[in-house]
Order: sequence, then C-alpha cells, then structure tokens
Amino acid sequence: MRTINAIKSWRALRASEAFRGRRVGFVPTMGALHAGHLSLVGRSLRENDVTVVSVFVNPTQFNDKNDLKNYPRPAAADAALLRRAGVHYLLAPRPEEMYPDGYRYRVTEGADSALLCGAYRPGHFDGVLTVVLKLLNLVKPRRAYFGEKDYQQYRLLKGMAEALFLDAEIVPCPIVREDDGLALSSRNQLLTPEHRRLAPALAAALRSGKPAAEVKRGLKKLGFEPDYVEDRWGRRFAAARLGKVRLIDNVEKA
Ligand code: PAF
Repeated sequence: MRTINAIKSWRALRASEAFRGRRVGFVPTMGALHAGHLSLVGRSLRENDVTVVSVFVNPTQFNDKNDLKNYPRPAAADAALLRRAGVHYLLAPRPEEMYPDGYRYRVTEGADSALLCGAYRPGHFDGVLTVVLKLLNLVKPRRAYFGEKDYQQYRLLKGMAEALFLDAEIVPCPIVREDDGLALSSRNQLLTPEHRRLAPALAAALRSGKPAAEVKRGLKKLGFEPDYVEDRWGRRFAAARLGKVRLIDNVEKA
C-alpha cells in the first residue's frame, strides 16, 4: 500500500500508467476504521482492479468544534488495517490542501439536507457534499462506496452524482452491527462503559414497530437525549445523544 499526503503527488500518480485502464474503487472515510469500513473496502477490492481509501477528518462537516477536536485519529492503526486488507493506495490529504479556497466554494442541496440530521447539524451536509465532490474529482473512481448507517448522506451523495453528471457510481453498503445490535461507528469508542451498555437499545427501539413518538419517549426514559425518531424513504431513522456522544441509526420499515 502506498500512502500519499500531498495532493500534487496524488494527481501525478492518478494520471500515471499505474492507473491506465484500471477500474478504480474508492472508499472515502474519516479514519478510526472499524469492521463497517472494512466491509466497504472488501467490496471495493472484489469489484475493482485498484482500491483507494481516503482518510480525512473533514473540518467543514463538523458544526461542533469539540466534536471535531475529540474525533478519534488513530492514523497508524488505520494504515495497518488498510495495508492488511489489501488496499492499494491511502490518500490522507492535509486540510489546508483540501480547501485552497478557504471553503468559499461549496455544494448546497436545497431540500433533503434540511431534514433529519440536517435540522440539528446546520451546514453538515454542505461540508459532506463539498468534500466528497473534491475527493471524487481527485480519485476519479468508477465506484464509490458508502455505508447505509449514514443513509441520508448516501441519498444526498447519490442525488449529487446524478444532478452534477458525475461518472462515479455511488454504491450503498448495508450497516454492520455488533452482536448486541449496535451499529458500528467511529464514535462508539467515545462512549463510557455505562453508555456503551445502553447504546444497543437505540437499534432495538427502532425495530419495535411502535409509533415514532412513543419510541422517542421510550428512549428518553432509558436515558437517551433523542433529537428525532422519524419515518422517511421506507425507513425509520433516529439520532440520540448519550452524554457527549451522538448516535444515529436507521432500519428498513417492515
Ligand atoms: O461518512 C463519512 O465518514 C464522511 O461523511 C465522508 C463521506 C468520508 C465525508 O467526509
């Protein structure tokens, strides 16, 4: 696996013989990798000739400074996992290189990005759409893989690819869960032991089939601070805080 930090070096490499005629699969991440990310990587390795993974903690998608500061960044462990998985290239750009314009140029979606998480995290999806467009332009993949835990993100990215005539296929991948049902997330490692024990109740509540308002009340009683429990797009979505950690999840409606 080769690791590239400088965008200039990456662009030269991408234009070189190494990529000629190769189908490129791409997995954009913010690092702190877990089995959910590795499932996307595995799929990319199976479906393409070359797999590129990016690790970039994107500042523009954090609406909370402390969340950005506390976001886990185990760079050496991430690189070791990716190398062992068989990834060909790790792209880990520096923030000042990703935003040479100081974020003057950005992608805004005018409807669905205001729903669900968008209502509680102003500007979050602008940051996601903008960074993913930049990354897709740099990597030029045939396919890019995204986890369905962030289903709203996946939907918005697919919409952007269609609206802006991007070449990449945006591929959704199923949520990977712990044995107790908790959806894998890089933020899970920030939970206290007590909150970690409570966390699987979020997935269980989503599956209960009870009316959304009742599910929300039930989560509150258990000690969660829910932002929303809401049905859309044939799914039930929830976001809820346990202490400082905000968890999201969604399930297909029966
Ligand atoms: O899902 C994530 O980890 C991020 O939102 C993404 C897609 C890598 C953009 O920073």
